[in-house]
Amino acid sequence: MDRKDLLYEGKAKQIYITEDVNYLIMVFKDELTAFHGTKRGRFDGKGALCNAVSTYLFQYLENYHVGTHFVKKLSDNEMLVRRLEMIPIEVVVRNIATASLAKTYDLEEGSTLKYPIIEYRLKNDRLGDPMINEHHAYAMGHATPEEMKMISRIASKVNAILKSFFDRRSLMLVDFKIEFGKYDRSILIADEVSPDTCRIWDRKTNKKMDKDRFRYDMGRVDKVYQELLERIISA
Ligand code: ADP
Ligand code: TMP
Ligand code: ASP
Repeated sequence: MDRKDLLYEGKAKQIYITEDVNYLIMVFKDELTAFHGTKRGRFDGKGALCNAVSTYLFQYLENYHVGTHFVKKLSDNEMLVRRLEMIPIEVVVRNIATASLAKTYDLEEGSTLKYPIIEYRLKNDRLGDPMINEHHAYAMGHATPEEMKMISRIASKVNAILKSFFDRRSLMLVDFKIEFGKYDRSILIADEVSPDTCRIWDRKTNKKMDKDRFRYDMGRVDKVYQELLERIISA
């Protein structure tokens, strides 16, 4: 399938329409942004690494009967996906207290939560992705109670699957963000699942293996993304 017109250019990806209205091509860019686009950077091969990690994890989730928009990896930085009606909510799942959560609730940085936390944020950079709850989602017409129930169920299942996936690679899934879209009457995972959208730490050393290296100028972002991909595909 070939790229036609550019439908949308975001911070990390471009979205192209194809000759089939049901499919889109996502092009992973080499740009990195943080703090709602206010901090910017790039490195060669970054798009390819995020595409490779996302491809692997989407296929892995599909094996566990979690529906995703993934159809096919087309090239190093292109993925063919099903076109969805996106729900403008970022769903964050947390296993370990860090960053904004640790600060807001005065929790010990790096402490394991007794139970995973699911948070919802309205996807809107201009407003700084404000935190919302299910009731905001219903009231603003973004999702019905049934859809939010499905979303929370899928998010918990993805967390359980990926937590043990990373555990087997001596990595900790600290937290992650996923997006959802509607397709017929089902809800599928969209966007990407990559070191740009997850926090992953080495279990023994607590080394950060994700975009926090860029956010907080920790260095070696390119080497760490590459190492993460190798560890993901190793087992
Ligand atoms: P952002 O919009 O946050 O800057 P990206 O640069 O990653 O993010 O752009 C990708 C955009 O494509 C996002 O807005 C995302 O919601 C949207 N998107 C992801 N998957 C799909 C899909 N399957 N169908 C339609 N839109 C999608
Ligand atoms: P936070 O601690 O900054 O709230 O982030 C929680 C998780 O969500 C972390 O893994 C990074 C990810 N995330 C995104 O992917 N996009 C975003 O816009 C934000 C704010 C967080
Ligand atoms: N997704 C946001 C950005 O790219 C925020 C973040 O990931 O820190 O700007």
